[in-house]
Amino acid sequence: MCSTSSRPGPAVDAGIVALGCDHGGFALKGEVLAALGQLGLTALDLGCDCATVSVNYPDYGKKVVDAVLARPGVRGILICGTGLGMSIMANRFPGIRAALCNDLFSAMMSRRHNDANILVLGGRIIGGALAQEIVRVWLTTPFEGGRHQQRLDLVEQLARDARPVGVQHP
Ligand code: RB5
Repeated sequence: MCSTSSRPGPAVDAGIVALGCDHGGFALKGEVLAALGQLGLTALDLGCDCATVSVNYPDYGKKVVDAVLARPGVRGILICGTGLGMSIMANRFPGIRAALCNDLFSAMMSRRHNDANILVLGGRIIGGALAQEIVRVWLTTPFEGGRHQQRLDLVEQLARDARPVGVQHP
């Protein structure tokens, strides 16, 4: 029997989700756009625009990083072939917590414990139905705060305190 119970509304403050992909993630981006539409969220599609032209994933990842950092509450979703390149690039920028989640449990926990503000998907790893469910779970699961916020603060502090690689200290 079909359930008629309503699902929890999206926990996206600004109601905007910035989307970026390379050619390896383009096909899955269509599924993500459909999921965002069902959730009533505004998609800011920052490219790329086709699967047949090879592009550099950092160019599109940076567009989404900039959109997320520009306005509190905006979330981002990045898609490349594996999700690895997009994850590596996005996490180079302070304030970004990008989580590569190709399963539902990771998607849920990346919100509850890590307050991820960018979801990364592998376009050559998962199918459309799973991607749509991952997006729904990720956008509707709140951060738990508390000890998890303290740990995120520790991450930021350790990164700030780190000595730049290659710099000689006495
Ligand atoms: C592109 O072929 C591929 O390398 C890219 O989509 C991504 O998987 C990189 O991490």
